Amino acid sequence: MSAENMYDLVVIGSGPGGYPAAVRASGLGMTVACVEKSLRPGGVCLNVGCIPSKALLDSSEIFETTKNGLSVHGIQVTDVSLDLPVLIARKNQVVESLTGQVKKLLESARVSLIQGTARVLDGHHVELTDRDGGIRILEAKFILLATGSIPVAIPGMECDEDRIVSSTGALNFSEVPRTLAVIGGGYIGLELGSVWQRLGAAVTVIEMTPLIAPNLDGQISRTLKRLLDKQSMAFRLNTTVTHADVGQDGVKLFLESKGKTENMDFERVLVAVGRKPLTAGLGLESVGVSLDEKTGQVYINSNYQTSVSSIYAVGDMVAGPMLAHKASAEGIAAVSSMAGHFVEVNYDTLPSVIYTRPEVAGVGLTEEQIKARGIPYVSGAYPFSGNGRARCTGETEGLVKILVHARTDRILGIHMIGPQVSEMIAEAVLAMEMGASSEDIARTVHSHPTFSETLMEAAGAVQRQLKK
Ligand code: NAI
Repeated sequence: MSAENMYDLVVIGSGPGGYPAAVRASGLGMTVACVEKSLRPGGVCLNVGCIPSKALLDSSEIFETTKNGLSVHGIQVTDVSLDLPVLIARKNQVVESLTGQVKKLLESARVSLIQGTARVLDGHHVELTDRDGGIRILEAKFILLATGSIPVAIPGMECDEDRIVSSTGALNFSEVPRTLAVIGGGYIGLELGSVWQRLGAAVTVIEMTPLIAPNLDGQISRTLKRLLDKQSMAFRLNTTVTHADVGQDGVKLFLESKGKTENMDFERVLVAVGRKPLTAGLGLESVGVSLDEKTGQVYINSNYQTSVSSIYAVGDMVAGPMLAHKASAEGIAAVSSMAGHFVEVNYDTLPSVIYTRPEVAGVGLTEEQIKARGIPYVSGAYPFSGNGRARCTGETEGLVKILVHARTDRILGIHMIGPQVSEMIAEAVLAMEMGASSEDIARTVHSHPTFSETLMEAAGAVQRQLKK
């Protein structure tokens, strides 16, 4: 085998699991190839996930605020109109600039970014097929699988990316749909539903459980639902879609809720009912990499090694929440472990954020999880309506809630809904990572007036509860 095909590490996938791992491995002295089937690096997150959806969320929020939120400030704007092609082109430009940056990052870290679809031949060889059908075999001491996930489909409801779309299609509608059904009231459904709602679509979210974003702390989920109700987003909870008829002008959805059936017509439908690991075509079974039969996730040990010790796996394809920052942390930990360093990912302090308006953010256990585990706890909360900065911006909806162990004051979870909580959650994560108590947060001086004082006030509320 020629030297140009021999590496210490071949990373399969250049998303947030793969590319930071490749860069770190190079920094640790390894020769690294990062292989990617798409022409652009960055994976789902950069190309069709986190980044483009946030670009659309930001643009649509500006549009909505300009239309409906300025007169209260004494600013009169007339004739606000939407140029959707420009809005979409801006989103594409944001994606292009960031994927370009990833390319440069890999280059400057001396990581070979190689285009091709990978198949694992054994613990040390990867076969790559390029766009022209050319085949190249790479040899490596280690292989890191970071191929991510794909959307789950509803049986009998094929995504044609026109009338029935996945999250990818919902980033690129050429016109604002008059009516949009969102099947699945999770992260994707609520974020992309918000985008099109703000741009003028009548959005109905169809969710099979009694709560939206059912993994959130229950109080936060209920508050989010109430606030989205106020924005005229419609919800059908406890409801499933049994089948769909696609016509020329739209889609008829057949719904079932508590034994009752009905049908509703929509111009377009977004299916956002979860994602599943992308392992198909990698040849994993034939090389002895074990998968969980039920979930399709790759089994790993605490060093991210699969059942073949030279093959590691991270991100959406292994157990845990499907979050970009979780994948990145795991990728870095995996390559560190290959190099003989021990780096632990603290799964108890992984934050999650939903970029609705207001935003939602949380870290640690929810109140429901604490109750189910029988942990004695105390809860304290503070509303944004009592926060000076929130009064100034007019974003007074929401709250911060802190849950602590009743005997030790150790923080078990922090949950927020309100303005800029996607940024505020970092303080909560750091507090938990450093083993802070609510007293530590309550005694930490926060700038005034800032949204972050709400966290300090919630900690003060916990302190008063503990002293009762
Ligand atoms: P999700 O798991 O967040 O939500 C899916 C929802 O669909 C759940 O509420 C579930 O109860 C519901 N559902 C499932 N089957 C259904 C059916 N047949 N009919 C009606 N409802 C049904 O999954 P989602 O939103 O597709 O997102 C996929 C992954 O991407 C998530 O794991 C999420 O963590 C990640 N993501 C993260 C974001 C962020 O961090 N801000 C943004 C977008 C996605």
